[in-house]
Amino acid sequence: MTPAFHPGEIWRDTNGLPINAHGGGIVRHDGVYYWFGEHKVEGEAGNLAQVGVHAYSSTDLLTWKDEGIALAVEDDPLSEIARGCILERPKVIHNPRTGKFVMWFHLEIAGAGYSSARCGVAVADVATGPYTYLKSVRPNARHWPQNVAPQFKQPLNADERACVKELVLPGGPVQNYPTDLLYRRDFENGQMSRDMTLFVDDDGTAYHLAASEDNGTLHLSRLSDDFLDTTGEYVRLFPGHFNEAPALMKRRGIYFLITSGCTGWTPNPARLFKARTIWGPWAELGNPCVGTDAQKESTFESQSTYLLPVAGKPDAYVFLADRWRPENAIDGRYVWLPIQFREDQPVIAWQDSWDLGFFDPA
Ligand code: DGJ
Repeated sequence: MTPAFHPGEIWRDTNGLPINAHGGGIVRHDGVYYWFGEHKVEGEAGNLAQVGVHAYSSTDLLTWKDEGIALAVEDDPLSEIARGCILERPKVIHNPRTGKFVMWFHLEIAGAGYSSARCGVAVADVATGPYTYLKSVRPNARHWPQNVAPQFKQPLNADERACVKELVLPGGPVQNYPTDLLYRRDFENGQMSRDMTLFVDDDGTAYHLAASEDNGTLHLSRLSDDFLDTTGEYVRLFPGHFNEAPALMKRRGIYFLITSGCTGWTPNPARLFKARTIWGPWAELGNPCVGTDAQKESTFESQSTYLLPVAGKPDAYVFLADRWRPENAIDGRYVWLPIQFREDQPVIAWQDSWDLGFFDPA
């Protein structure tokens, strides 16, 4: 049987085992695609990191070879990546200047729920690792966002601090969300960073994009030349709009961003944005999904994780998403769908099965 993508069905690697790489991302190097994702285990315990980041390799995006655990959680309970931490949405990029593969991921220190809101950073000399854990960071400490007015580049005063202390911020939309307080609260110790992605532009500049400010506002940050840190150059995007699961792509000089709303593991309608320069302005274009109401409302029962350009095929991009199963995390499924362009705008439609021939001219 010719291999094909079967969105939402169990997808087996070349050993016949279900691929275990959730919330993942893909880097292509020397003609090979490498898929990195969260290794999940059975049950609700699988929502915490029990194993680490799993790597697979492929040359055709359909058949994937198990390359093992690229970054393992550690046994030392004092380690920041101790077993039982939350380690989500790992993304790897290659740095041609240093020759290193650099992995960033959303890190929550074990036992602290989602309150740490940090980025973990790890490096390796070869794509499949093993990766060495370097550090965790809260991005852009002691830097102000570039797109706020001068009067808002001020630490909180005593009244504002008291006001922030009273807030209950559950990570999803709340009434009276304070759009101008939270990044100022976090000025000194660094900005919150939960769902995240990395993006390398044509000029080699790398960016980190993450749900910040208790998920209410995305922060887009430029990475340092070695890709190991943020530079302090960053903008706030869509304050108070509660976007997460960000995924970025660029087509014909236009940047497209797909996100979800913040409803935990439960799917919600995807959101599409576009910009002519990465720093914005970004325009919101609505839901990129087409199909039945149920498909549009649930993004085909999934949540975005990555937008993948297909090498050698112009205008070919794949929407990578997760169908989470928090009650049995290992059974989460992958929903990969081709992105189509209608009047130069990305559109995503359900396919029961498809292959890369989808992108060939009719
Ligand atoms: C939605 C996020 O996109 C996931 O990565 C994960 O953090 C869940 N929320 C946890 O509820």
